[in-house]
Amino acid sequence: MSAVPFSKISTPLNALFATIGLLVVAALTTQGLTGQERLVSELLLAAIWLAYVLQLSGTLLSRRSLSGGMTALVIDLLAVLVPAGAFLFVGSRDRDLYCTIWLLKPLRDSTFFRLLAKVVANESRNLLGVTSVFGIVLFGAALAGYIIERDVQPDKFGSIPQAMWWAVVTLSTTGYGDEIPQSLAGRVLAGLVMMSGIGIFALWAGILATGFYEEVRRQDFVRNWQLVAAVPLFQKLGSAALIEIVRALRPRIVPAGSVICRKGEVGDQMFFIVEGRVTVATPDHPVELGAGNFFGEMALISGDPRSATVSAATEVSLLSLYAVDFQMLSSSSPEIAETIRKTALERRGGASGLP
Ligand code: CMP
Repeated sequence: MSAVPFSKISTPLNALFATIGLLVVAALTTQGLTGQERLVSELLLAAIWLAYVLQLSGTLLSRRSLSGGMTALVIDLLAVLVPAGAFLFVGSRDRDLYCTIWLLKPLRDSTFFRLLAKVVANESRNLLGVTSVFGIVLFGAALAGYIIERDVQPDKFGSIPQAMWWAVVTLSTTGYGDEIPQSLAGRVLAGLVMMSGIGIFALWAGILATGFYEEVRRQDFVRNWQLVAAVPLFQKLGSAALIEIVRALRPRIVPAGSVICRKGEVGDQMFFIVEGRVTVATPDHPVELGAGNFFGEMALISGDPRSATVSAATEVSLLSLYAVDFQMLSSSSPEIAETIRKTALERRGGASGLP
């Protein structure tokens, strides 16, 4: 049996195997398992490990994975070697715990974690700034707590390191309640520390949320830019108009055979074909449109219902433009809007009625 198909274990399947493996490891730490239950659990772990060995073989055999997926290769290696090493060198009590390395498995193909790493890298200065504020407030709170409470509760606030635990628990607004200031000044301090904690965590969340939003927007912009550049009609645009249209167009992939718009429907958008072909079911004979062409403009311009059903002849990559953005295109690039209008008239057989 070839090992290569195992390199294609999908991300959800990797996550499923890892989840089962981790639940089994957790179950093995509970007391009172019978010998048979233990055996079944160990066999399950061995089966998952075997699947991961085959996946690793597949990763090693496929050159694509070696050149493009170093992270995947490292994760696949760790998922096999760490439990194997534990089996050989660690006592039976703890060796199953090493299977928790499978926590990494769902990350091997994840685009989310790459995005997260990018956001953290982009925002590192701001995150570091807020972390510094956190450190300053934390130390300041521990110092003040020590000065205020050391005589009242020397067992809990007798040194700065001791007071530091109270400061962390209070600043993070966790409040275990194991160390509570007794004096009024100590309680006022605790209130201030809690408020600062809320502010600091809100800042962290805000920086990350903005970072995510900007990074996703940037990636969308770059991808749309590449798609727009593939449509000849837009190659005449100046850079300002191009930026506007890149922002306005929304990419969409339609599988072969799907209906994109149906005759008689209201049409609020038109489509540009980046890749693939569509079939327009005109009354006389079907017309095929390919990359660089557009459709759906007639209903958009005239406000009439769709004149024909358009379906994907192959898988097709489209950019859609909504009516409001078509108005924007008309004012920023009248010559493109004119080309679209002329095409609509020609398709309608020269009939008037289009503005
Ligand atoms: P609309 O009427 O909005 O929706 C169906 C689309 O099919 C239509 O816009 C045109 O873009 C396209 N279409 C209609 N007739 C023809 C034709 N004869 N040749 C090419 N495309 C057409």
